[in-house]
Amino acid sequence: MVLVLTFFDNTYKRGYNFDVVKIFIFLEKIVLILAVESSCDETAVAVVKDGRKILSSVVNSQVKLHEKFGGVVPEIASRKHVEVIASLTELALKEAKINFNGIDALAVTQKPGLIGSLLVGVNFVKGISIATGLPIVPVNHLKAHVAANYLEHKELEPPFLGVVASGGHTSIFEVLSYTNFKLIGNTRDDAIGETFDKVARVIGIPYPGGKNLDNLAEKGDEKAYNFPIPKVTDSNYDMSFSGLKTSVINFLNSMEKQKKEIIKEDLAASFRKAAVENLVNKVMKAAIFLKYKSIVVSGGAAANILLRKKLKKECNYRNIKLFIPSLGLCSDNASMVGSQGYYEFLKGNLADLSLNALFRV
Ligand code: KG4
Ligand code: ZN
Repeated sequence: MVLVLTFFDNTYKRGYNFDVVKIFIFLEKIVLILAVESSCDETAVAVVKDGRKILSSVVNSQVKLHEKFGGVVPEIASRKHVEVIASLTELALKEAKINFNGIDALAVTQKPGLIGSLLVGVNFVKGISIATGLPIVPVNHLKAHVAANYLEHKELEPPFLGVVASGGHTSIFEVLSYTNFKLIGNTRDDAIGETFDKVARVIGIPYPGGKNLDNLAEKGDEKAYNFPIPKVTDSNYDMSFSGLKTSVINFLNSMEKQKKEIIKEDLAASFRKAAVENLVNKVMKAAIFLKYKSIVVSGGAAANILLRKKLKKECNYRNIKLFIPSLGLCSDNASMVGSQGYYEFLKGNLADLSLNALFRV
């Protein structure tokens, strides 16, 4: 055992080869991952144990910073990441009562996202890697969103149908294993969260509109106005949301021309119904056709009240298990990166110091 450990220490310090991982698996060693997320407007750092337990998780949201622009300004986002990332890392380590000696690997969101934002996290982690010898695990942000569920649902294991509903993506995956995802459905244009944000803006709801529109919709009549569910006819599971946004804008313009009042709550509820049904229809169609008995949903828009309600109802009715994280784990955070990073680490999916960020998958 002593010999193995000595070998392990040397291999480990030297670099990024797969033998490190094999030794972890052989020794059944606990894996502590320091994870960094900076793909959009949240800087986040977490320490995660064996992909399933959060030891610490800190997030710096930039919402206030971007509010006055009505959306995320990429350069401002990158600059803020640079400002806070190091001290957030110190804080995450402190809260986990650990230092770099206790960490086994560094996970970082590598793609997709705002390129300037991603580069901050990737380069920061490279610096830590040079200083400590720790291996780097690049993580796909969409896979990380799905992995957020492992942190709260201890019994959850692939295979299952995975759904990411966020500000940048609306994707349906067959999650075949922890690391093998097969994309089967995608938005052809805007993401669902983005559509909520855009519609919120045209009806005068402040940024970030998605959540506020959702809350407003709770007070409205969803049958008040009729917005058609956009159709994508040449694919089973692809979706489109931009036509719905245009319908809302056209409707508002026509009401204005006719000098007719609209009830914001009703408009919010009617739009939300169409957007949510669009996604739920595709997800249920995929689950039924491909015979999945578990559906795992995540991403910022998975916080949507109606989406959660409708999916729950559909899944109950069809005897399908539904997994959605609590609200704090739906939006961007580093714990989910630490969770996915753990499974990538076990697969030996490590990067060297030439790792670059990618704005798309
Ligand atoms: O996952 P996330 O934090 O960042 C991305 O990876 O995009 O998602 C943010 C998105 C925003 O578009 C936001 O408006 C949307 O999630 N969102 C919601 C709700 N809460 C957040 N959309 C609909 N209903 C909500 N309750
Ligand atoms: Zn996200």
